Amino acid sequence: MKKYSVPKNFNSSIGHNSLDNYQSLRKNAEQDSNSYWESVAKRIDWFDQWTTVNNTDYSKAHIEWFSNGKLNASYNCIDRHIENGLGEKTALIWQSNDPTTSTNVSYNELLKKVSLFANGLKRAGIKKGDRVCIYMQMIPEAIIAMLACARIGAVHSVVFGAFSSDALKNRINDSECKLLITQDNGVRGLKFDIPMKENADKIADKCPSLKTIVMVERSENDMFMKEGRDITWNQFIDGCSSECPPEVMDAEDPLFILYTSGSTGKPKGVMHTTGGYLVYASHTHELVFDYHQDDVYWCTADIGWITGHSYIVYGPLSNAATQVIFEGVPNYPDFGRFWQIVEQHKINVFYTAPTALRALMKEGDDWVTKYDLSSLKVLGTVGEPIKSPEWHWYFNVIGNEKCPIVDTWWQTETGGILMSPIPGCIPTKPGSATLPLPGIIPEILDEEGKVITERNTTGYLVMTQSWPGQMRTVYGDHQRFIDTYFSQAPGNYFTGDGAYIDDDGYFWITGRVDDVLNVSGHRIGTAEVEGAIGAASGVAEAAVIGYNHEIKGEGIYAFVTLMTGVASSEEIKKDILDTVTKIIGPHAKPSVIQFCSGLPKTRSGKIMRRILKKIAQNETEDLGDISTLADPSVIDSLLEK
Ligand code: WT7
Repeated sequence: MKKYSVPKNFNSSIGHNSLDNYQSLRKNAEQDSNSYWESVAKRIDWFDQWTTVNNTDYSKAHIEWFSNGKLNASYNCIDRHIENGLGEKTALIWQSNDPTTSTNVSYNELLKKVSLFANGLKRAGIKKGDRVCIYMQMIPEAIIAMLACARIGAVHSVVFGAFSSDALKNRINDSECKLLITQDNGVRGLKFDIPMKENADKIADKCPSLKTIVMVERSENDMFMKEGRDITWNQFIDGCSSECPPEVMDAEDPLFILYTSGSTGKPKGVMHTTGGYLVYASHTHELVFDYHQDDVYWCTADIGWITGHSYIVYGPLSNAATQVIFEGVPNYPDFGRFWQIVEQHKINVFYTAPTALRALMKEGDDWVTKYDLSSLKVLGTVGEPIKSPEWHWYFNVIGNEKCPIVDTWWQTETGGILMSPIPGCIPTKPGSATLPLPGIIPEILDEEGKVITERNTTGYLVMTQSWPGQMRTVYGDHQRFIDTYFSQAPGNYFTGDGAYIDDDGYFWITGRVDDVLNVSGHRIGTAEVEGAIGAASGVAEAAVIGYNHEIKGEGIYAFVTLMTGVASSEEIKKDILDTVTKIIGPHAKPSVIQFCSGLPKTRSGKIMRRILKKIAQNETEDLGDISTLADPSVIDSLLEK
């Protein structure tokens, strides 16, 4: 595999400029981890110093960093920059779906807006530790709402704006949110009326903890407002002071909950705390993107996912970055939208998902070459492995062979990037997240939990040591935290990914080892989708498999059996798709539905997914060992697709 050296003239300001430099940093961090993390933590302003750097005990699944340190995340993301003379610096460049509209928000303005809303929250009775749900699209108020929660010590739970009302309800109820912040309608591409408030209205009565709904007026549409419960954003802050002292938070006080899919039907509330998370998001944002003070940064993620939390809100803002936030989609008004924005706002650092690159690459280079992309310096990817064709397209056509590509491997649980090339230091190989960041100690284990020392041998990826950004618990279910992450390989954090190390020590992620799919960089549990399909009328049982999909990375392939007497039809297919959209959201809809008379099961009733996977991928020549099947005749019916 060809290695790409650091592009010539790539000049890193933060002192990481050679592989040797990286190796010595990594060695020092490994040998004296406390000093390393202590020096990293100093980038954040603390009201009170910590007494212990790391109080983690993996054997008890107890994770604790910077004990007794006091800080506030919103203060670190806003106030301190103003104190440092950066008040007039642009924090956010909001690029609306409409290419002709963009708005700048300076750090001074951000402070005022966040403080006003924080005071509104207080007036509505929200206190430190209360949970607040945010169900919005990419508008500045979404970020303002997150920072306002952080300012008063309320715990935000952002629910991705494409989730259905049922999914919203389950998340509000799981963490007993008292207040919901949403908008009238969402605007994305050719969709101008995405029903956000309407979705909230459908379920508000089924959320006993929910007392207030705050609604941003994004569209001009008239909305139903329930007396005593619903209030517009402007009314909510009307008469509030624009000064709100930041609450003093303990390092281990929760900052937010973010739900993510696991191998059961119920999403997990991943909980991150204030000190360690902020230190880690801030540090990795500078290190991995080589962020300089005068750079313009753009991450195309949505705040509904961890990438938006760490690399739109807390990382960049704690580093006083200027960044674009984008409401729209890559193909509206045409396939050149991303590159038009890069030219318009002179983006230096661009961070996106391989799935977006695949979709755009397919449309040809003319959409790219008509724009001036010479401002670009670092290009990043996240969410799934990047394959060779799109890596080369990104490197050659977008980056003009001048920009290092940082393929960042991490998870909702890890809070920030754990493995990535450091630009200026680490030569890249297309498809590999290369090496761990300093202080991160990955290992590959076999089935028995023994370390695999041979090169190029796939096993389970674990982390042997904690790092500050690590999740602390599954909200309300610490046992599930232990079971999911600390029981397979006791003493290690179990990532759920497979990986191998090549001859140069580079890591290659081979994908999930659990029943979790990665569709367009979004994590979806097979059990969740199977449950949703099972709720459609006439369906007896469903098994869901991920198969190679040209654009999405993994597509969802559903095998469905129907109840006796029910015949397969286009109506049932449509009903299945509608039901999945209703229960989860449109992003979880299967790309293929195959009706079958039975599913391949073992005698103990376990579905043999490996057989279904081969059928879904048309690899039916050799189905492997089928001797444990309870009823081998189902295979013939499955092959008649
Ligand atoms: C899973 C985490 C990390 C934020 C977005 C997704 C896969 C993520 C990479 C990468 C190969 C990757 C893993 C991981 N993944 N980044 N660079 N190369 N695989 O967060 O929804 O928590 O999903 O995404 O399988 O476990 P997430």
